[in-house]
Parts: sequence; C-alpha cells; structure tokens
Amino acid sequence: MNNPTRYEDLGLVNTKEMFKKAMEGEYAIPAYNFNNMEQLQAIITGCVQSDSPVILQVSGSARKYADPVLLPHLVEGAVAMARHLDSTIPIALHLDHGNSFELAKECIDSGFSSIMIDGSHHPFEDNIRLTKEVVEYAHERGVTVEGELGVLAGVEDEVSSEESHYTRPEEVEEFVGKTGADSLAISIGTSHGAHKFKLKPGEQPPSLRFDILEKIERLLPGYPIVLHGASSVSPEHVAMINQYGGNLESAVGIPAEQLRRAAKSAVCKINIDSDGRLAMTAMIRKMFAEKPEEFDPRKYLGSAREELISLIKDKNMNVLGSAGKA
Ligand code: G3H
Ligand code: 13P
Ligand code: ZN
Repeated sequence: MNNPTRYEDLGLVNTKEMFKKAMEGEYAIPAYNFNNMEQLQAIITGCVQSDSPVILQVSGSARKYADPVLLPHLVEGAVAMARHLDSTIPIALHLDHGNSFELAKECIDSGFSSIMIDGSHHPFEDNIRLTKEVVEYAHERGVTVEGELGVLAGVEDEVSSEESHYTRPEEVEEFVGKTGADSLAISIGTSHGAHKFKLKPGEQPPSLRFDILEKIERLLPGYPIVLHGASSVSPEHVAMINQYGGNLESAVGIPAEQLRRAAKSAVCKINIDSDGRLAMTAMIRKMFAEKPEEFDPRKYLGSAREELISLIKDKNMNVLGSAGKA
C-alpha cells in the first residue's frame, strides 16, 4: 500500500478516551463484529439510536470477505451516516484476533484505529515479542492495541483451541509492562461461538471466574480489560432457527447478569458476534419459510437488519450500560 490512510481522516477515534470514560462510568463499550453492509448499518443505527460509543470489529477473515480495499470506504460511509443522523457517537475500527505483525500493519495503514494482536496461543515470551512489535508500530500512528493472555475454548479466528486456559494473574503485570499494550483480553470462562457450555437438562451455565478478574484488577488498577466470547445466545433466536429448518442443538451463551456485572468492573470492552449472527439467521429463515415466493434480498436482509438493530439497542441499554454515554 503506497499511501497509508490515517484513521482520523475516516472520522474514527482510537479506544483510549472510550475506555477511560467506560472505566470511570462503570460500563463497557460494545465491540460488534461485522462482515457486510447490513450488519454495519444495523450497528451504526442501533448505537446512534441508543447514543452509545461503538467499536466496529472486523476479523482477518471478515476483512477478506468484505474486501480489504472496500472496507475502509464502507466504514468511512458508516461514520458519515451517523453524522447525517445528527449523532456524534465516537466510532473506532478494530482488527479482531490479528495473528501477525504484517496483518496488523496492513490494517493500521488502511485506516484501522485499534488493533488486537492475539499471541495468546504462543509461548509467553513470544506473545510479548509479537505484541510489543505491533504496539511500537501502532503507537507511532496513534493506534491503540489490545493484547491477550489466556486461551478461550472454541475457535480464536484461524487458531483453534480444544480447551480454555484461564489467564494467569501472575503474568499480567509483566505482559502489560513489557508490551505497552493499551488493553488486555483475558480468559475467565467465556468462549467463542454459540455452544459455550455442555449442560445437562435443567443445568445452569457455570459462573465466570470473577475471582481471576478481581485479582487482575488489583494488580493493574484502572487498566482496561476485554471480554471475548460474550454472546448470550438468545433462546428465542435459537428456537426460531430450529423451528424454521435449522439445526442448532444445545446452543448456550453467557447469562446477561454476568455480563452486567463484568461491565461494571474493569471490563471496558465486550465482544459480541454470535448473537448478531443468530438474530439475522433467525429472521432470514423465518422469511424464507413464511414467504417462499420472496426473492428480493432487501426483504430478507432488511428484516434481519431490523432484528439486529433491536438486539444492539437492547445490549447497549440493558447489558453493557453504554446507552446514553456517547
Ligand atoms: O472471535 C471471532 C469472531 O467471532 C470472528 O469470527 O473469524 O468467523 O469472522 P470469524
Ligand atoms: P461470541 O462468539 O461470543 O459472539 O464472541 C465474539 C468475539 O469474541 C469476537 O472476538
Ligand atoms: Zn474473540
């Protein structure tokens, strides 16, 4: 890429101020993943209508899907859309689960304002080295960086992990001190996807490990913590998907009360992808089943987009506490 794009020129901000306010105000900034225009429109509309700051989050594979050249233009348009709606909500563009310095650099040079470098599957020293390298490049350009310690169960982008390894509190000070990362994703019992726990009939999901979170908060006072794998997996959406021909057995997520508790702590960023996917899929399946004669994508994608807007407003208002904080 010959001419790097500065995130400021796209109307974006980094996450520094957002996290400072979220920490002081005891809420969390929503980080919603997207891959296409309808998801992006829904995130902006839902956050404008609930007056919430927002992190637009893109994985490496989502960036490929949307097209790396088109993506920054889409996001610039999304910022313009928010401003046209008379909203001044802060908007960041964040790389989710970046897995190499080269990818992080490409994203920074194309207008991302925030980067996750996920070295959590590497040995501790290698994770430090990789994260530090990204932090140095990012900070010279005003871009903020999220690192990760501990491994979530499920699939971390192209890195799959059979089981989770909780974050070891004794490692966090050294990691943050040596890397200079601006925030830290930790593993305290969440996991990616729609099947977070294997539960017996009637059994409730186990509690997140708030004891680990509290130890980390004591070691790094005022330091922003990030929760990945934080979808709640709405039973209504799962039931709808199954009713209209889907097959999602034993899908289960993180109860909203636990996320509310986390949002009041040092957790400043909460990542949500699967809930949006489920909401859209439920509406598209319903439309296909009820109106088999319909073949206009605006009809089924439009109803999916409406459902996603409602979900986002509900999360901001009732789970993360970010509504009204822009
Ligand atoms: O944590 C991963 C996110 O849900 C993104 O998933 O790599 O399928 O886009 P993806
Ligand atoms: P969910 O799969 O729980 O939505 O988690 C998304 C995530 O952590 C993206 O990085
Ligand atoms: Zn994640």
